[in-house]
Amino acid sequence: MNILVTGGAGFIGSAVIRFLIGHTEHQILNVDKLTYAANLTALQTVTHHARYHFSRTDITNRAALDSLFETFKPDAVIHLAAESHVDRSLIHTEVFMYTNILGTYQLLEASKNYWQSLPRIKQESFRFLHVSTDEVYGDCGTSEHLFHESSPYVPSSPYSASKASSDHLVHAWQRSYGLPTLMTHCSNNYGPYQFPEKLIPLMIQNALAGKPLPIYGNGQQIRDWLFVDDHAQALYTVLTQSAIGENYNISGDQSRSNLEVVQAICGLLEQLAPTKPTHIRQYTDLITHVTDRPGHDFRYAIDAGKIQRQLGWRPQEDFESGLLKTVQWYLTHQT
Ligand SMILES: NC(=O)c1ccc[n+]([C@@H]2O[C@H](COP(=O)([O-])OP(=O)(O)OC[C@H]3O[C@@H](n4cnc5c(N)ncnc54)[C@H](O)[C@@H]3O)[C@@H](O)[C@H]2O)c1
Repeated sequence: MNILVTGGAGFIGSAVIRFLIGHTEHQILNVDKLTYAANLTALQTVTHHARYHFSRTDITNRAALDSLFETFKPDAVIHLAAESHVDRSLIHTEVFMYTNILGTYQLLEASKNYWQSLPRIKQESFRFLHVSTDEVYGDCGTSEHLFHESSPYVPSSPYSASKASSDHLVHAWQRSYGLPTLMTHCSNNYGPYQFPEKLIPLMIQNALAGKPLPIYGNGQQIRDWLFVDDHAQALYTVLTQSAIGENYNISGDQSRSNLEVVQAICGLLEQLAPTKPTHIRQYTDLITHVTDRPGHDFRYAIDAGKIQRQLGWRPQEDFESGLLKTVQWYLTHQT
């Protein structure tokens, strides 16, 4: 296949591209605007590969997208490009609306027009995979309830509201025009090359520098964590095996409170980086509770049984093995 990947220079997109180049024979076109969140170093192992191609393009630029579809002739699109950081969405809201909603709209239109021009056999095999988040379902609160693929959308932040909006567009383009779409909702990812504004890399970097480890509120908020390479594999499984119009939750069923995550990082650093900044006795001394984020969801929890039952996908890493790999990676990739 020729696979057009948007946002392939980001954290998850680069893991998807490394997986596709390393484990398949497909041609890849990475379409990325290269915002602050992009990191081309994450692609250095594939950049010179004959099956890897790159275009610095903003997905809101429809003319540029049309031209890329015309020349690359994709058999599939994996759409990851997005503004993805909740804290930023509370302040710089507009860019989330442009990229996540209008960008998805322009990509759907470019995909639809290209797809409609294809011969029937190519139309039948074409796929548009939209990568979304469990945050569209909103807050589970203190209940033990898990969100399913048919749970209603109750997004809490500008980020999750913009992702929920883009999901609705994808659904509508499938129902109205027959575009062969697929959708996934994944829990929190972690792993190598994550931008150090997100919880796990931020805590590793701050701890190594002897800076405070800021935890929102009491740190009891619960997130479900998935190692990024497991997500990449799940996306490829959905792309190649799912029926059209399907929607899958993806998670590793590894829920931890934010405080537990930070304590686990500190524990690993005690073993792997025992020489600490001189003003602390142990890394946990750096834990600092700060004012909670507005609208902060208490708990996200999804049931990922459907992808396991129907497509046979299972994560390779649990939280302990994945976190160990992640901390080791940050320690050996400080630059
Ligand atoms: N990180 C998570 O835990 C998580 C969990 C579930 C779902 N998701 C979803 O997965 C996708 C990827 O997340 P991530 O963590 O890799 O994000 P990221 O912020 O690390 O990367 C986003 C990438 O998109 C690119 N981009 C942003 N705006 C663009 C535009 N207008 N045109 C073209 N490219 C643009 C950026 O340059 C960057 O390379 C997002 O859609 C996100 O909503 C993320």
